[in-house]
Amino acid sequence: MFPPLEGNGMIVPVDLGWFQEFFKLSSRRGEGFLFCHIGVKKMIETIETIRAAALARVAAAASSEELEALRVQYLGKKGELTAVLRGMGKLPPEERPRMGQLANQVREELEKALLEAKDTLARKEQAGRLRTEAIDVTLPGRPLPRGYRHPLYQALNEIKAIFTGLGFDVAEGPEVESDYYNFEALNLPKEHPARDMQDSFYITEDVLLRTHTSPVQVRVMEARRPEIPIRIIAPGKVYRRDDDATHSPIFHQVEGLLVDKRVTFGELKGTLMAFIKQMFGETVQVRFRPSYFPFTEPSAEVDMSCVMCGGSGCRVCSHTGWLEILGCGMVHPRVLSMSGYDPEEVSGFAFGLGVERVAMLKYGIDDLRLFYENDLRFLRQF
Ligand code: PHE
Repeated sequence: MFPPLEGNGMIVPVDLGWFQEFFKLSSRRGEGFLFCHIGVKKMIETIETIRAAALARVAAAASSEELEALRVQYLGKKGELTAVLRGMGKLPPEERPRMGQLANQVREELEKALLEAKDTLARKEQAGRLRTEAIDVTLPGRPLPRGYRHPLYQALNEIKAIFTGLGFDVAEGPEVESDYYNFEALNLPKEHPARDMQDSFYITEDVLLRTHTSPVQVRVMEARRPEIPIRIIAPGKVYRRDDDATHSPIFHQVEGLLVDKRVTFGELKGTLMAFIKQMFGETVQVRFRPSYFPFTEPSAEVDMSCVMCGGSGCRVCSHTGWLEILGCGMVHPRVLSMSGYDPEEVSGFAFGLGVERVAMLKYGIDDLRLFYENDLRFLRQF
């Protein structure tokens, strides 16, 4: 687009082509000829090359990032066109305005092209995103894995619901217990032979994993004395050194305690009958068998007619027709007085039932270990 130059000197005569328009000659220069500084020509070439290349690349850019890179490459602080503008200082002063104008014009053109390309690309990119990120609301949902309440806790919740329905509160106590609460305050002094009934995990001489939930009786009485009535159940884990098909080293009990004026064995029976019938149905038979616990007097064990055979005798009930489900009795006067209640004024009953036992009977499970193996095929059935 430029007329050829001859010679390689600093000042050369140039035929005025179209760019006479660009470079109005100063009156000091000759007519018809432009004495153009070689730098000016080179600069025009450079600017033109930059312009062509930049516009082509902007037109071909495929992403906003690419456009930004081009902007930096050409128009940035260290950009190519910027460098040309910087080089302006080397031109003869009378050429600078022209060159500046050309460079600025190219810069404006480039800026405009960048802006337009950016707009177009942004629209394209958004359209692409809308396409790829589109949600097909007609697709079926992904199934969420569903949790199952463990049958033991289902049974426990049912036990709790029945007793709270009868007016009992739920109380809790620690699983790591002192010898005092686990035994001593329950009328089981050290060296008492009945301690052998509950093989224990000792932590120190005076601290053990509770072997039953009965220590919660003592803790509640101590905390509430002299208040009456006390009507609590205390569910929780207990620990014994047993491990076979029908014994687990950890199992669950629910303790019950009622203390008030003139509480009788009749009320103990009525309460437990109400519980068993709600839990297992009206037709179940219940019997109270005299037994012994150091912390109750009199004491009883409660059996119900076998839920598997209905009482005719089967493997589950060892062919007796009966299943033992809990221990109970009237709170021993010594237990009441050790915990701050006067046995002449108040009386009470207590019971302790095994949650595993209840769950096995309720759901017809014949192996205790199934509760702890976490086999989903088993657990899903409840
Ligand atoms: N704590 C006794 C046990 O674990 C059960 C029981 C509780 C008996 C309350 C009587 C009264 O064997």
